[in-house]
Amino acid sequence: MRKKLYIKTYGCQMNVYDSARMAELLAPLGYRPSDTPDDADMILLNTCHIREKAAEKVYSELGRLRAVQDDKAARGGRTLIAVAGCVAQAEGEEILARAPQVDLVVGPQTYHRLPELIAQAERLGPGRGVIDTEFPADEKFDALPEERMTDGPAAFLSIQEGCDKFCTFCVVPYTRGAEFSRPAADVLAEARRLVAQGAREITLLGQNVNAYHGAAPDGRGEWGLGRLVRELADIEGLARIRYTTSHPRDVDDELIAAHRDVPQLMPYLHLPVQSGSDRILHAMNRGHTADAFRRIVDRLREARPDIAMASDFIVGFPGETEADHAATLDLVGRVGFAHAYAFKYSPRPGTPASAHDDHVPEAVKGERLAGLQQLLAAQQQAMNHRTVGRRLPVLLERRGKLPGQLVGRSPFMQSVHVSAPERLLGHMVDVDITHAHPSSLHGTIATAIWESGEVTQERAAV
Ligand code: 5AD
Ligand code: SF4
Repeated sequence: MRKKLYIKTYGCQMNVYDSARMAELLAPLGYRPSDTPDDADMILLNTCHIREKAAEKVYSELGRLRAVQDDKAARGGRTLIAVAGCVAQAEGEEILARAPQVDLVVGPQTYHRLPELIAQAERLGPGRGVIDTEFPADEKFDALPEERMTDGPAAFLSIQEGCDKFCTFCVVPYTRGAEFSRPAADVLAEARRLVAQGAREITLLGQNVNAYHGAAPDGRGEWGLGRLVRELADIEGLARIRYTTSHPRDVDDELIAAHRDVPQLMPYLHLPVQSGSDRILHAMNRGHTADAFRRIVDRLREARPDIAMASDFIVGFPGETEADHAATLDLVGRVGFAHAYAFKYSPRPGTPASAHDDHVPEAVKGERLAGLQQLLAAQQQAMNHRTVGRRLPVLLERRGKLPGQLVGRSPFMQSVHVSAPERLLGHMVDVDITHAHPSSLHGTIATAIWESGEVTQERAAV
């Protein structure tokens, strides 16, 4: 029987990847994706616990979904509600206590067991939640179906999970568990399947993706991310490789060399720094100073002069002074970012920083956030303006909001809108950039359309 599956994904790209894999896993049970929760047979919330706001959103959504469940029940049906992801992992039983209508709670390491859990929930009936939030060692990837439904021209591929860094503000080491890298042979095989299905770009995913150290295919030793990227670049038809998200401490010589030597590795790097103050970086247990971060960026720019840097920042970490914040603004000014996310520090249960007694008042966090965001927005806009007049290769990934419009990404991750016929969807085209907006570009298609498999240098300096 055909059943409707509605998935709502919160948080990072790892969750986007996991949601796609869960949809694939449920397809043999008759579940087909639906873009509305109304009348769904199963609603799956793939959740994020990184900041308090993200976690609370899940509970408000669960409140709203009760109406959908009641509606279906009134017509004699049943809507199963599953909570997956990091809130599921972190809160487990607490979810069933706060939202008793939830049927399933499944963590990021056990979602391959969803079919059994669903059968169990169906047997038990409403009001009896089933929980599975264990951390089985590397069993998930082996259990997931090999076949990938196509993600389109730009696909995600998870190569690494978990984190052993224990930054003092962060829940990831607790919700996603210890660092684990998939064997290189599995990654290469999945990449080849994705390319065979039409992917032209692959983004390698991991909570700490450049900590990657997967078993080498010949069983001798391990490959780091730099080596993996070089081997992926040999896959015919794979025009672009990206990876996210990375840690400054794991940027090694091999990875920097890959940025120098592998044209398919796109000149864009999301490298979270969090703060520009050494005192705060130390309290965060980041394991590097502001200067060390700048040296890494300098080396990356020597290797790939046009590389666009992106980052994450936290303002108002406990004990952060005006001088610490000024050091962050100074770092931003010196490095220059093409894009960055800035967040107010949010105390997370169980993390060391949440136990500090020198929390920064919300109003001060708000002011610092506004100042930092203003600076980052100005840098992003300046970067976008510098691309006007240039011809950039763009992979057309999806339809735009306006009829006749397609949207893709520049090598530097900028969204680029063009008027183009549908048949160019999934193709790499050269675009003459005509307009820059705060967070996107507009352009017109130049004559040359790249043939499948052809990769040219994308290295003209910005
Ligand atoms: N409060 C605010 N921001 C946080 N991040 C992680 N934990 C917290 C927290 N407790 C941010 C970091 C990280 C990004 C994914 O989320 O900047 O890089
Ligand atoms: Fe969290 Fe730090 Fe690990 Fe990143 S490196 S996931 S911020 S603990």
